[in-house]
Amino acid sequence: MGKKIALVTGANRGIGFETCRQLSQLGLTVLLTSRDTKKGEAATKQLTDKGLDVVYCQLDVSDKDSVRRVFGRTVQQFGHLDVLVNNAAILYDTFQSATDADLEVVGKALTTNLYGPWLLCKAFIPHMKKSGYGRIVNVSSGAGSLHYMEGGTPAYGISKVALNALTRKLASELKGTGILVNSVDPGWVATDMGGCGGRPVEEGAKGIVWAATLPESGPSGGFFYDGKPEPW
Ligand SMILES: NC(=O)c1ccc[n+]([C@@H]2O[C@H](COP(=O)([O-])OP(=O)(O)OC[C@H]3O[C@@H](n4cnc5c(N)ncnc54)[C@H](OP(=O)(O)O)[C@@H]3O)[C@@H](O)[C@H]2O)c1
Repeated sequence: MGKKIALVTGANRGIGFETCRQLSQLGLTVLLTSRDTKKGEAATKQLTDKGLDVVYCQLDVSDKDSVRRVFGRTVQQFGHLDVLVNNAAILYDTFQSATDADLEVVGKALTTNLYGPWLLCKAFIPHMKKSGYGRIVNVSSGAGSLHYMEGGTPAYGISKVALNALTRKLASELKGTGILVNSVDPGWVATDMGGCGGRPVEEGAKGIVWAATLPESGPSGGFFYDGKPEPW
């Protein structure tokens, strides 16, 4: 097989953008995707200007047709996908609690943070199975750990718990296929979502890149922070 192909969602800024930078620096061809074409093309240019192998592709993970189009384009242009990083997420809902949550808001969080990754997995896993290789990274959060679970941010927290469950289900179903599926908590990172005070994106993205480039003997069905197990 030639150069590895990676796709990163929500990659026009923040941790997703930095993940594209690090993966392309490691020599992968990276499909930088974003829902907004202008922002995505500008972000891609920042990396291609540095000589990195990054290709832009429009993708709104909450839109089934958009997922279908990206799948078609990836297969047509590259023939396969090796690495899928489900990074895009919304709604760190500090403005509500579980006792008074607006379930429409919860539904929006689930559409982007859970169904988006799930749709992408469903689209690409059959192709990964054919090539006998795949690395799927579901970017989760400490807010998705039942072990550390507290009140607040119900839409976000519950969407990340569900994403972790998806990781476990897929990893179990894909045993022996060469496809490794893991959840990664990037920690508190200074981005638009994380706000000031968090660690730099370079550090937050490292654990994602680690899971995206695991060797054949690497773990599957785990939840990791900086390459170390995190309690579910
Ligand atoms: N930052 C932290 O402290 C922290 C902590 C734990 C976990 N995480 C997780 O790390 C990941 C990245 O977070 P971040 O801090 O980089 O967030 P961010 O700065 O808010 O960036 C989120 C990205 O997701 C994109 N996005 C949102 N909805 C989308 C959709 N429907 N389709 C495609 N893209 C969409 C955004 O695009 P637009 O620019 O178009 O809005 C943006 O590019 C998320 O999964 C987050 O939950 C972050």
